Amino acid sequence: MSSPSDLFAHRMRGMRPSTIREILKITAQPEIISFAGGLPAPELFPVEAVRAAADRVLRDSGPEALQYGPSEGFAPLREWIAAEVQGRGVRAQASEVLITNGSQQVLDLTGKIFLDPGDAVLTENPTYLAAIQAFQTLEAKFVPVPTDEHGLIPEAIPELIAQHRPKFLYTIPTFQNPTGITLIAERRQKLARLAAEHRLLIIEDDPYGKLRYRGAEIPPIKHWDEAGQVLYASTFSKTIAPGLRLGWVVAPAEIFHQLLIVKQASDLHTSSFDQRVAYAYLTQNDQAAHLEKIRSAYGARFDLMDETLRAEMPPGFRWTRPEGGMFLWITGPAELDGMALLPKAVEKKVAFVPGRDFFPSGGGTNFLRLNYSNSTPERIREGVRRLAELCRSEG
Ligand SMILES: Cc1ncc(COP(=O)(O)O)c(C=O)c1O
Repeated sequence: MSSPSDLFAHRMRGMRPSTIREILKITAQPEIISFAGGLPAPELFPVEAVRAAADRVLRDSGPEALQYGPSEGFAPLREWIAAEVQGRGVRAQASEVLITNGSQQVLDLTGKIFLDPGDAVLTENPTYLAAIQAFQTLEAKFVPVPTDEHGLIPEAIPELIAQHRPKFLYTIPTFQNPTGITLIAERRQKLARLAAEHRLLIIEDDPYGKLRYRGAEIPPIKHWDEAGQVLYASTFSKTIAPGLRLGWVVAPAEIFHQLLIVKQASDLHTSSFDQRVAYAYLTQNDQAAHLEKIRSAYGARFDLMDETLRAEMPPGFRWTRPEGGMFLWITGPAELDGMALLPKAVEKKVAFVPGRDFFPSGGGTNFLRLNYSNSTPERIREGVRRLAELCRSEG
């Protein structure tokens, strides 16, 4: 008799559970101050407004909201999203907007339509952990693009294209996860130009763009995309609530069509009810005021974390100072082992994510990712103090 493990597909061999998800299980205990998860601040979820929106949906269009719906998504919400991304400087028609189960599903669907086993994907190094998982399931080969404090270095890309013939570049240009780094405008333009010249497809993942608490807006790469080479993905996870599982991708017609086919195969469509609730919420509430609340809270939390790190951390540690988003990224001395530090931190009742798993091709042991959006000021002060004490005692 074969055991189930003999039956798993080849592609499952390299798959490991996400370290973050494993850590989150431990850090759910309330006495642990966790900078580990990527959670938005729950006290800022518009619970009452969503409840009112849900009531309205059920009262005014209950049967439609509970019925199967189109795979493309709820038409009025697609229109709303097209108008909203136009406000970000992205030319988009509602017909190009596919509504998905979070932007995570965009990664799964784009992977499915483009990747055969062994195909190369260009990424930042480090990059978003669950993007690594999504593309790894499809047996992709990761090719890191050199980066500096301003993000990806476009000049490095032509040679990587020639060498690896990648199917696409996956990038998070704004307040990147995990580093918080933002790609400067000049490089965005260069990337769009490169994409056109080399027929390089770009998956631009932008969950954090609306969370800028400082500095001037920079348009998405898609803004400069004359050639239709950029797929632009975003989400309501950080601007309304992640439990709705609502994201979207803006894709040119030919790619949209393929995405729609795999979306149908995967889940038929995104929840009709959730889409209508989100639409009712968005059209009947002051979204700008809500975003402002989130931005100013996250800005204050980042400032406090930054200040406390400056006061407490020993020499040899430096960190990014993002102008938005939810994460900062600490670089420790070369000999620091973030994985070994974590259990000691958990003993002191503080948690972070070790950097290692964000590097698709290995390395990255001396980095830590800290989330500042989901902790109160008192917990930020105390958690950083505990972490710094540990780092000092290790040094
Ligand atoms: C870079 C990036 N992409 C995508 C996602 C997925 O978000 P969701 O599926 O909730 O839209 C996240 C969530 O943390 C993220 O950080």
